[in-house]
Amino acid sequence: MKIALTHEIVVVDFTHGAAECDFGAPEYSMAPQTITDADYEHISRIIYQHSRIHLGDGKRELISSRLGKRLRATGCATYSEYCSLLGRSEGEAEINHLVDAISTNHTFFFREKKHFSFLEDTVLREFHQNPAYRGDGCFRCWSAAASTGEEPYSIAITLARHEDLRPGFRWEMDCSDISRTALDAARLGIYMNERISDMPENVRRRFFQRGIGKQDGRSRAKQILRDRMSWHLMNLFQEPYPFDKKFHLIFCRNVMIYFDRPSQEWLVQKMARLLVPGGYLKVGHSESLSTLKHGLQAVQPAVYRKPLN
Ligand SMILES: C[S@@+](CC[C@H](N)C(=O)[O-])C[C@H]1O[C@@H](n2cnc3c(N)ncnc32)[C@H](O)[C@@H]1O
Repeated sequence: MKIALTHEIVVVDFTHGAAECDFGAPEYSMAPQTITDADYEHISRIIYQHSRIHLGDGKRELISSRLGKRLRATGCATYSEYCSLLGRSEGEAEINHLVDAISTNHTFFFREKKHFSFLEDTVLREFHQNPAYRGDGCFRCWSAAASTGEEPYSIAITLARHEDLRPGFRWEMDCSDISRTALDAARLGIYMNERISDMPENVRRRFFQRGIGKQDGRSRAKQILRDRMSWHLMNLFQEPYPFDKKFHLIFCRNVMIYFDRPSQEWLVQKMARLLVPGGYLKVGHSESLSTLKHGLQAVQPAVYRKPLN
């Protein structure tokens, strides 16, 4: 599809059906029927085994509101039929759709603003001042639960603005999520204008192209950001990870809450190993790691750091 956009690039070919892109709101539909205790337990167990998302007892409504579409897509008339499909070898691919449908992708640009000022004021200053933390000189960041992209683009904008102030500053980002739907939307980087309306005008103009014609009312993150970002469809609990270098900063925000304690501990220890000495891990403000064993130092609420040696 050919789409005309204003600013630097006039015509952009948005493939992957961009115009139909879902920007993150989970899709609710009426469930065709109620779910039995046994089916609920069965589905919860499969979700946990695959993603470590721990639904507990109280998410029955969430399951039935989000799975109606999967029942229709697979041609299953009942949840019991759907459960037996999940148990068969031809149902293996369906597990990914199940986790995709169940994952909560709520996010927004510059969520928890303090994390972005901390990045500018503390992390990047340290990067320039401390060779032991800087390493080879390219700042590497991973957005580990990237959802529909608002978090990684907020980080990328912060890093690109820093580059404007310090030409020669090198940076790159890895961005990952278990949800294919969310990750496809993130990779495209197309958002309703309302979602970026809180950004200052100069930031919007510098980093987003406004759509016209069929894309009127939407904006796309510019290539100067997307060029530095690599996208990975990735389950945080499935090894090996696709990285060959360590990170100066990991954002793993608002996803730990879905995991139980042993899974959280495993994940934080794994991330600690992926940080350079002095590297930072940021979690969501409601996600304390204080009861977990991980060897990171608490720097301030929701910010942890690997010792510099
Ligand atoms: C609520 S969003 C958080 C988005 C963003 N980090 C933020 O704070 O705004 C949680 C994301 O975690 C992803 N997720 C859940 N379990 C996961 C897993 N096991 N591996 C990778 N991503 C996972 C979901 O698909 C969802 O997009």
